[in-house]
Amino acid sequence: MSRHRGSGAHGGRGICLLLSALLLSSFSALVSSFAPSDAPVCRAWLVQSIPTDMPLLPRVPGVLSSGDVLKWLARNSTKSLDIIAQYWQLLAQPENPRSGDYGYSHADMERFGAGVGREVYKSLVDAADRMVDIRQGNPSVTPDAILIVQHSGVYPTYAQESANLAAGRPNVKNVTFLHSDWWGSGIVHAKVWLSDDENVYIGSANNDWKSLTQVKELGIYLVGCPIIAKRVKMYFDNLLAVSSLNSSAYTKTAWDRQWQVLRKVPCWSRFVNHKKRCRSPLPEYIRVPHVEGYPSLSNPSMIHLPIETIGINKDTSNAHSSYLSFSPPELSFGKSQVDEQGWVDTIKSVKQGGILRMSTMDWLGQSQYTNHPIYWPTLSSAISEVVFSKNATVKLLVAYWAHFIESTDQYLKSLLYTNVLCASSKRNRCGGKVEIKYYVVPGFNMTGPALKAGSRTGNIYPGFTRVNHGKYAVSDVRAHIGTSNLIWDYFYTTAGVSFGTYHPSIVSQLQVIFDADWNSPYARAVQPLQGESTGSA
Ligand SMILES: *[C@@H]1O[C@H](CO)[C@@H](O)[C@H](O)[C@H]1NC(C)=O
Ligand SMILES: *[C@@H]1O[C@H](CO)[C@@H](O)[C@H](O)[C@H]1NC(C)=O
Ligand SMILES: *[C@@H]1O[C@H](CO)[C@@H](O)[C@H](O)[C@H]1NC(C)=O
Ligand SMILES: *[C@@H]1O[C@H](CO)[C@@H](O)[C@H](O)[C@H]1NC(C)=O
Ligand SMILES: *[C@@H]1O[C@H](CO)[C@@H](O)[C@H](O)[C@H]1NC(C)=O
Repeated sequence: MSRHRGSGAHGGRGICLLLSALLLSSFSALVSSFAPSDAPVCRAWLVQSIPTDMPLLPRVPGVLSSGDVLKWLARNSTKSLDIIAQYWQLLAQPENPRSGDYGYSHADMERFGAGVGREVYKSLVDAADRMVDIRQGNPSVTPDAILIVQHSGVYPTYAQESANLAAGRPNVKNVTFLHSDWWGSGIVHAKVWLSDDENVYIGSANNDWKSLTQVKELGIYLVGCPIIAKRVKMYFDNLLAVSSLNSSAYTKTAWDRQWQVLRKVPCWSRFVNHKKRCRSPLPEYIRVPHVEGYPSLSNPSMIHLPIETIGINKDTSNAHSSYLSFSPPELSFGKSQVDEQGWVDTIKSVKQGGILRMSTMDWLGQSQYTNHPIYWPTLSSAISEVVFSKNATVKLLVAYWAHFIESTDQYLKSLLYTNVLCASSKRNRCGGKVEIKYYVVPGFNMTGPALKAGSRTGNIYPGFTRVNHGKYAVSDVRAHIGTSNLIWDYFYTTAGVSFGTYHPSIVSQLQVIFDADWNSPYARAVQPLQGESTGSA
């Protein structure tokens, strides 16, 4: 409109447009003041999986279990179910010598909770069969009632269940997306279920039975939220669109100026010099000519929506800001912020003298899977910044488990050194600090198959279990719930999705969940570098 200003010829039209805009907005205000009674209210619950045999962990009331939520999503879906999965093993495989479940008895498996995975799988089969009938009765329903995007079927048989769901069912489609063809490495690592374009699970739980009862998970369940679901669907569609393209024709090896490496990226990436960049095949992808890399958005798109939180209290009166963030940037950038910014802005949302709580399975200040190592100080810098400038206390919980990455300890000690630096000058008047604990699920060091080459291993839990797998951050005002580990690759080559919100009930319940872990006997302080004082001595 501002372009019309001052131009006599178009002045009238400008006013006309302005008037109709005013009319429209008062009309929509009218509509929305009448809407709440019949429009579905978006509702949210936090969701957890808590491994068996953790008697000393206090339970947080009002939180749902992952197993129930995935079952409900499948059972309640009438038109569509879109799933983003890393791999599949909802059915335990104690008879498969290549499985981490191998050698456990039927009674063991039931004690481990394998029955919950079986129920989720059955709900999916039922949904697939039910939606065939629905589709036959109603041709307007999309032919792909269940649509799955997954990483490749890695060892042992991780794409078999989705293939079985698709076999003989024209309304189920299974798509494998190989990130390494597009980014040189990386996987589909997001864990998302989207039913009927309005109900969503986003969180850390994979599509395997262990994620329901043997791995500690954290996610969010949103019901009747088409506005949020629409953005998740956009990302899902982008994954599908890219997976259908010929990667050789659409990738480039480019010098990445931000991370100082030569690497393979989609040709529309902003890491490619703008003169050599191709036009993005994805809709809604905003072209920015002269940028190399992905600077943070100064005003990332927010969703202003009332969300009812029945699990905590019934607060529907106020709309709060919520958002989604996605990785890698080439699949999302434009309207939505990239996932790294979602985390950084959550760290920086902490108030003066406030507390930031963060939980992750893995933590590294570098890349894990690239040919050349990439140094990645983004999150540790943001933490040090709020310790220095805002007197913030940052509590970081990192998993210690059977597949712990050794160099994690060095990076955590480096982050703890912030305390020494902050206290190094009296002029700093440092009141902030970093505290780090390892979360140790009991039994973590006795995981793996029960049998190997015919003899007992002594393991007492299946492989890849007994770990705190949730990935989230929560300040005094903002909660961020993601699917990515805190390592460079997850933000630049791997598919990840986060939901974040300023909703006070969700923020406070997530704080309570964190504190239950932090104050439990399963959390143990990470020691600072030897000889280093821990604080403002
Ligand atoms: C549908 O979901 C709701 C919770 O959102 C749950 O209470 C209900 O049991 C589900 N229905 C079925 C058939 O699973
Ligand atoms: C999808 O399922 C079909 C039918 O079972 C199977 O033949 C195919 O290999 C599967 N594709 C992927 C990518 O998993
Ligand atoms: C993919 O693109 C490459 C390079 O443009 C081309 O040589 C190849 O034939 C294409 N493959 C298919 C299956 O279209
Ligand atoms: C930070 O805390 C210290 C010690 O409690 C205090 O002296 C200082 O004024 C605080 N600084 C800010 C910016 O709040
Ligand atoms: C496993 O870890 C626990 C606690 O750290 C320890 O007491 C136990 O000896 C360990 N067991 C094995 C087999 O390493």
